[in-house]
Amino acid sequence: MDVVETIAGVRRRVARARAEGLAVRLVPTMGALHAGHVSLVRAARADGGCVVVSLFVNPTQFGPGEDLARYPRPVEADLAACRREGVDVVFHPPAAEMYPDEPRTTVHVSGLTEGLCGAHRPGHFDGVCTVVAKLLHIVGPDAAYFGEKDAQQLAVVRRMADDLNVPTRIVACPLVRDADGLATSSRNAYLSGTERRQALAIGQALAEARRRIEAGERDGRAVAGLVEGRLDAAEGVRPEYVAVVDPDTLAPLGRIGPQVLVAVAAHVGETRLIDNVMLRGLGQG
Ligand code: PAJ
Repeated sequence: MDVVETIAGVRRRVARARAEGLAVRLVPTMGALHAGHVSLVRAARADGGCVVVSLFVNPTQFGPGEDLARYPRPVEADLAACRREGVDVVFHPPAAEMYPDEPRTTVHVSGLTEGLCGAHRPGHFDGVCTVVAKLLHIVGPDAAYFGEKDAQQLAVVRRMADDLNVPTRIVACPLVRDADGLATSSRNAYLSGTERRQALAIGQALAEARRRIEAGERDGRAVAGLVEGRLDAAEGVRPEYVAVVDPDTLAPLGRIGPQVLVAVAAHVGETRLIDNVMLRGLGQG
C-alpha cells in the first residue's frame, strides 16, 4: 500500500494504475475509520481495480463552533485498517497541500443544501462539495463511494457530479450500524457510556418509523410526528430536526410515494449525531 501526501504524487500513482489497465475507485473519508468506512472500501474493492482512500479532515466544512480541532485523527490505526482491507493507495494530504491559499472558488449546490443539516450548519455543504470536487479532479476516479449515513451529502454530491458533468460514477452504500443499533460514526468516540445508551433511542425511533411505513403508513407528517414524539421522550436526546423527504430531491413528503428518507439530527451531550432510514420501491400503502 502506498501512502501519498502530495497531489502530484497521487496523480502519478493513479496514472501508473491506469497504464496497467486498472479502473480507479475513490473512497473519500475524514479518517477515524470505522465499520461504515470499511463497508465503502469493501464495495470499492469488490468492484476491482485500484482502490484509493483519501484521509483528510477538511477544515472548510466545519463551522466556527464545531469540532474541527478535536476531530479524531488516529492516522496509524487508519493506515492499518486500509492495509487490512487491501487498499492500494492512501491519499493523506496536509491542509496546506489542499488549500495552499485562501480559496476563492467554492462549489455551491442550491436547493438541496438549505434544509436538514444545511439549515443548522451554514456553509457546511459548500465545504463538502468543494473538497469532493477537488478530490475528484485530483484522483479522476471511475467510481467514488459514499455512504447513505450522510443521506443529504449523498444527494448533494450526486447533483453536483451531474451538474458539472463529472465522469465519475457516484456509488451509494447502505448505512452501517453497530450491534446495538447505533449508526457507526467517527463522532461516536465523543460519547460517554451513558450518552451512548441514550443515543440508541435515535436508531430505535427510526426503526419504528421504518416498521410503520413498511406496514403501510403513507402520511409523512404522521411519520415525522412519531419520530419527534419518540425523541422528545428520550432522556438525554435533544432533537435538532426530523425530516420526511424524497431521498433524491430532499423535498418534504406530505404523502409518502415510492421512496422516502426519514432523517434525524440530534444532540446527545455535546455530540451532534445524524441517522436515517431510506426506503425505496414502496407500494401504495
Ligand atoms: P466521513 O464522515 O469520514 O465519511 C466518509 C464516508 O463514509 C461518507 O461517504 C459517509 O457517508 C460514509 N459513512 C460514515 N459513516 C457511515 C455508516 N455508518 N454507514 C455507511 N457509510 C458511512 O463524509 C465525510 O467524511 C466528508 O464529508 C467527506 C465526503 C470525506 C468530504 O470531506
